[in-house]
Amino acid sequence: MRKNIVAGNWKMNKTVAETEQLVADLKSKLQDVDNGARVIIAPSFVSLTTAVTAVKGSEIEVAAQNMHQEANGAYTGEVSAEMLKSAGVNTVIIGHSERREYFKESDELLASKVDAVLANGMEVIFCFGETLKDRKLDNQLLEVGSQIKKSLFHLPAEAWKNIVLAYEPVWAIGTGETATPEQAQEMHKFVRRIVSKKYTDELADDISILYGGSVKPNNAKEIFSKPDVDGGLIGGASLKADDFLAIVNGF
Ligand code: 13P
Repeated sequence: MRKNIVAGNWKMNKTVAETEQLVADLKSKLQDVDNGARVIIAPSFVSLTTAVTAVKGSEIEVAAQNMHQEANGAYTGEVSAEMLKSAGVNTVIIGHSERREYFKESDELLASKVDAVLANGMEVIFCFGETLKDRKLDNQLLEVGSQIKKSLFHLPAEAWKNIVLAYEPVWAIGTGETATPEQAQEMHKFVRRIVSKKYTDELADDISILYGGSVKPNNAKEIFSKPDVDGGLIGGASLKADDFLAIVNGF
């Protein structure tokens, strides 16, 4: 069943102590919110265990922002699925445009990361999106279609129960420029259509597709009101409890 989700991608922000504080704020204020949406936060690796402990007694879930595709070994500085699981994490963000751009993560590499997350019984939030150049050339559907096909279409149908999709147009991330609700809806509908063509209508209908890119308390409601938008992946506005909760209240 498709679920509404608001996920906060904290990126490289918040110390361990700040993580504890933000989770405490979120927890106390979330008690007043009861709209059935899943609420996920993705702090940095070093704060994951603190976050997992701090969310206890609430519905907040903790995700990681990245993961290495190998099970273990000589990969200095990297973190494996087993390590994340042992820290109490069940969801991993894969394919964020910042990882694609700054760390040169290719579609093929992302496919192997997706496989590693799923092989460990965890859930993937898979990000994709076009650059401003693609959008200006009206290439956005082609580009997004290609990213999804190359990293996800090798999966068997049953694997999709552990996939959440996140459309994040690169030109809208951290820029204050948001895709219009119509642009988001058009893309989400397109994604559902290509997934349904490859698999089935039911499978496509069951996937939660989040929008990310300058989602704020003042625009969340309108974006979330679109039929194929099932929530948001939030960057900057997830770092303040009041803003994040206002977005959760956007359903
Ligand atoms: P902003 O909400 O800061 O634009 O970031 C979006 C994002 O990249 C979430 O993953």
